[in-house]
Amino acid sequence: MAKLDGNNAVVTGGARGIGKAIALLFANEGANVAILDRDLQTAQEVAKGIRELGRNAIAVEVDVGDENGVAAGLQEVTRAFGDIDILVNNAGIDTTSHVVDMPTDMWDEMIRVHLRGTFLCTRAVLPGMLRRCRGRIINISSQLAHKGGAEMAHYSAAKAAIIGFTRSLAYEVAEYNVTVNAIAPGPIDTDLFRKLPEHWRKRKLAEIPMHRPGTVDEIAPTALLLATDAGGYYLGATLNPNGGDVMI
Ligand SMILES: NC(=O)c1ccc[n+]([C@@H]2O[C@H](COP(=O)([O-])OP(=O)(O)OC[C@H]3O[C@@H](n4cnc5c(N)ncnc54)[C@H](O)[C@@H]3O)[C@@H](O)[C@H]2O)c1
Repeated sequence: MAKLDGNNAVVTGGARGIGKAIALLFANEGANVAILDRDLQTAQEVAKGIRELGRNAIAVEVDVGDENGVAAGLQEVTRAFGDIDILVNNAGIDTTSHVVDMPTDMWDEMIRVHLRGTFLCTRAVLPGMLRRCRGRIINISSQLAHKGGAEMAHYSAAKAAIIGFTRSLAYEVAEYNVTVNAIAPGPIDTDLFRKLPEHWRKRKLAEIPMHRPGTVDEIAPTALLLATDAGGYYLGATLNPNGGDVMI
């Protein structure tokens, strides 16, 4: 029996990068997977690949920062699959600016997508998880939450807030057999990382003991652990696959 047989999972930002790898690994382990992404076409291609594995999969166009869109998108998932067992809050963006020059819109959008998005998706799935006394919530943070990084104050702040959110929610839901944990990856070879300015990427890889970015396949198994019975005693934790960038 596969590790996630019979589970219904939602992965936000699952059209590409880390989210796509998590969606495919979960499907390989037996889960039905809904991909919520603002890039519908690419999300549909991932869903098609999952259906070819013999699992149920849908793609839903959702901006995770949009309250009505999140509610409607997750209702569509519930209609298609039934109850949601696993939520991975993964959708994310990246921009760079020194604080002194940072436009307010850039700050607001970073907080909206990462922090508001994580809150909205989590709040929408929680009633079902609490009612059924069953659920796993996995929030994708970043090693920059611990370490910070020049030109990334908005991103680091949003990702650190996600860890605070994760710990606080953990106190509220543990007695309902719902776990909530975070993953704080180091730099991972995805579109998001590749689009960062060259000087930023070079500086980051120079300071990491491994001097290379990680791969999405070095992150997805950590999400799988947190989603399965083997990860059942993690609560409010932040796991750190980061190439030694922050050794905690
Ligand atoms: N790549 C890295 O170096 C790295 C490191 C640490 C943490 N992370 C985090 O991992 C997560 C995934 O990043 P990635 O590297 O795979 O990025 P990516 O750019 O490859 O994929 C991000 C996905 O999120 C989707 N998305 C963006 N904004 C959205 C929104 N408002 N609503 C719905 N979908 C949206 C995009 O369409 C895309 O499919 C992000 O939260 C990111 O901050 C990435």
